[in-house]
Amino acid sequence: MTAYDITDHTYDVVVVGAGGAGLRATLGAAQAGLRTANITKVFPTRSHTVAAQGGISAALGNMMEDDWRWHMYDTVKGSDWLGDQDSIEYLCRNAPESVYELEHFGVPFSRTEEGKIYQRAFGGMTSNYGEGIVQRTCAAADRTGHAILHTLYGQSLRYNAEFYIEYFVLDLIMEEGECRGVMAWCLDDGKIHRFRAKRTILATGGYGRAYFSCTSAHTCTGDGNAMVLRAGLPLQDMEFVQFHPTGIYGAGVLITEGSRGEGGYLVNSEGERFMERYAPSAKDLASRDVVSRSMTIEIREGRGVGPKKDHIYLHLDHLDPKVLAERLPGISESARIFAGVDVTKQPIPVLPTVHYNMGGIPTNYHGEVLTKVGDDPDAVVPGLMAIGEAACVSVHGANRLGSNSLIDLVVFGRAAGLRAAEKIQPGETQPDLSKDAGQESLARLDKFRYAKGGTPTAELRARMQDVMQNNCAVFRTGDVLEEGTKLIADVFAGVPDINVADDSMIWNSDLMETLEFDNLISQAVVTVNSAVNREESRGAHAREDFPDRDDDEWMKHTLSWIDNETGEVTIDYRPVHAYTMSNDVQYIPPKARVY
Ligand code: FUM
Repeated sequence: MTAYDITDHTYDVVVVGAGGAGLRATLGAAQAGLRTANITKVFPTRSHTVAAQGGISAALGNMMEDDWRWHMYDTVKGSDWLGDQDSIEYLCRNAPESVYELEHFGVPFSRTEEGKIYQRAFGGMTSNYGEGIVQRTCAAADRTGHAILHTLYGQSLRYNAEFYIEYFVLDLIMEEGECRGVMAWCLDDGKIHRFRAKRTILATGGYGRAYFSCTSAHTCTGDGNAMVLRAGLPLQDMEFVQFHPTGIYGAGVLITEGSRGEGGYLVNSEGERFMERYAPSAKDLASRDVVSRSMTIEIREGRGVGPKKDHIYLHLDHLDPKVLAERLPGISESARIFAGVDVTKQPIPVLPTVHYNMGGIPTNYHGEVLTKVGDDPDAVVPGLMAIGEAACVSVHGANRLGSNSLIDLVVFGRAAGLRAAEKIQPGETQPDLSKDAGQESLARLDKFRYAKGGTPTAELRARMQDVMQNNCAVFRTGDVLEEGTKLIADVFAGVPDINVADDSMIWNSDLMETLEFDNLISQAVVTVNSAVNREESRGAHAREDFPDRDDDEWMKHTLSWIDNETGEVTIDYRPVHAYTMSNDVQYIPPKARVY
């Protein structure tokens, strides 16, 4: 093995990832006086949160009456009753304060005539427990994530958080069942760094790039999730993959749900506003799983648009051009660039596209990572925390409501900072790392760095993305998923034959993409296996062979582990938290679904 020269660091808190969640946690920990490092593989303001468009939900009541309990009800129902209700209560109760904090930090929200934060309608957000539609999604035009990211980065610097930018974290350092830090590779000078910390917070985002067509950036490879799997810990609810109804046909680029919130609507080849049939009351603002499935059915039944009848039109051309320019400038530009469409005159061709992973690293609402030990399904893994899309806290359960992602990032990023400040003292003594701490991770690095097999990484990645796209899609059947488990196992089995042409350490994108692929493939394997295992339909998991939700058998979280050598998956379960923080509100699932 190569004898790497290792640079050592010690911090109170190390945050991996500089998206909305990572930056909010970094800021919180630094504000509390903890020596905090943020390690990120891209420049912070290029993290994928920058692409979040439509807004951030919070029951501020700026446009009409609202209540955090209504938000909670919508989120529990939107999760198709798989969300943990204590976490959902924490999210919705803390949402308004978290948004006002952002405002005070300097986020340039759009404003109402009276100068309040502007809020728009989003799918599944209702007033009075489902009675009417409420405008709850706080927006900075259609560039809300961009605005939040820039503000949080500036604030983190103000509190002296230290940033390690363009460092790729390779693995966790786990000793005596505890996380004691991470190993990282500095991409621009090729050096290896070992970070020791009392708390390691994973904020590494989702793994949308396991699919061929997704709205996620190329960086969304779920690196933290894969590190957790390699550490022998489980991921949770990986079968639940969200398709956003309106990715631009062909390009996958996101057209915000906020466009339907502002009055846009979908039509089929007959010019019909078909959502009126599928969801008579919420129509185009039904939750995303419902809209994506309805579009897929329209296409399957021959009512798609275009020469191949394989997509749907989104109309915004009836809206006032001033509204489009003021509230939806970003998507107007995307539609022009990626679909050649002038939104003031023409409809946008759209198709459901992979957008979000409800599954991830199981945590409680403090952001502490959980695993199952004996009969205890909620055992805390010492030293390790996870937040944002990497985590499964689980507020989104089987399906996330639009604009509940940004609020999840901010509320739980903040919670993780608060928890770290509560549990550790600045400069607290830390145990020495063992002599060979991190060596396993370097052995993995070398395995790929010097891989001289016959298959280029790009070929394996393309095969993985095809399997996920074809065998783990919006609609699923046992047969197709079963075939998917075999096909994805074949891809996994191809890893030892990988070929990396470049073995240098400086800006080696071949090696970095290979490490990212290795991260993706383990998540792809547990995703398909978890999907074939869940024999019911719930939220984003629509099994045609099991079309009903089965609360008696399946109201439980899936836990999945992978054997990193063989690719074999082990499955177990955790109960859903059907209790709340305060027990003054609690939602029991109805037998039938009503939209
Ligand atoms: O449609 C959107 O603007 C996406 C929002 C979200 O995923 O929360």
